[in-house]
Amino acid sequence: MSFESSCDETSVAIIENGDKILSNVVATQIKSHKRFGGVVPEVASRHHIEEITICIRDAMQQADVTYDDLDAVAVTYGPGLVGALLIGVTAAKMVAWAHHLPLIPVNHLAGHIYAARFEKPIQFPALSLVVSGGHTELVYMPKEGQFEIIGETRDDAAGEAYDKVGRVMGINYPAGPTVDAMAAKGHDTFNFPRAMDKEANYDFSFSGLKSAFINTYHHADQIGEKLNHDDLAASFQAAVVDVLVDKTMRALKNYPVNQLILAGGVAANNGLRTRLQSAIDKLPQTELLMAPKKLCGDNAAMIGAAGYVLYKEGHFAGLDLNADPSLEF
Ligand code: KG4
Ligand code: ZN
Repeated sequence: MSFESSCDETSVAIIENGDKILSNVVATQIKSHKRFGGVVPEVASRHHIEEITICIRDAMQQADVTYDDLDAVAVTYGPGLVGALLIGVTAAKMVAWAHHLPLIPVNHLAGHIYAARFEKPIQFPALSLVVSGGHTELVYMPKEGQFEIIGETRDDAAGEAYDKVGRVMGINYPAGPTVDAMAAKGHDTFNFPRAMDKEANYDFSFSGLKSAFINTYHHADQIGEKLNHDDLAASFQAAVVDVLVDKTMRALKNYPVNQLILAGGVAANNGLRTRLQSAIDKLPQTELLMAPKKLCGDNAAMIGAAGYVLYKEGHFAGLDLNADPSLEF
């Protein structure tokens, strides 16, 4: 059984042998956070408390298992919102204690990466581009269970930038999927900045792009000019995708790997998936492994997949496991 509650989804899954989903129940709180334009931590914690036992019951019913069928309990213990993480960690400890099961502590970002495991086995060495609402990282994985961050965002995460520019255009949180759909209908006419694109490192920066977008939007508003929202979305997305793809391809030159893994909420982005696939097609030695679209966002199945690796290594936590909101690899 696996648990995920690091942000605004309460999720419980039952996974067999690390790659077969028997159930994956996700209770989303999007409706409650929508009117605030983003996730309110206190509201998130309260929802997790209400939802978690219902998710456990539903996950077990859907998988048709009893507690006797379980071998271990895996849980996200960071990074994320501390109050939100604590609900999943406490529930997981309760199940582990009551049913004498080992407790497996899972890093949320490792979970995102291992979501790709449901597509295909991971071939090491691998490089992972993790793009979510809270993180934008290039992670080198020489072997199973080893993670080395080689680049990351210096300010906003890619998903955060999507949500902020979406908000300016009046799109509800989370704006990513809508901006993605609008981008498909528009053209890159605004030529927004590609920050740090030419710098010889693997880091990212999206706050300048966000400001350029907001300034363009407000300036047009002030002079009464109506901008085409689809073109704005397409121009924003082109700038994000250009930088993500360029930096990843540069990293692959110095880190030749068997697989490039695309993971995290923004990995569901159609523009990014298409552009990365055509760039990787030019590298015969590297295969692109993308997390299935429906498993890109936060869910407990991915935590079960990452937890299975730790289970095989006998990497368990005691019942004193605590949430770690700024957990690193
Ligand atoms: O991984 P995730 O579910 O939560 C975090 O761990 O942060 O990622 C959520 C983020 C949100 O910012 C959302 O707008 C973005 O992923 N997102 C997308 C798309 N689908 C979700 N961004 C761009 N294009 C998408 N299709
Ligand atoms: Zn996430």
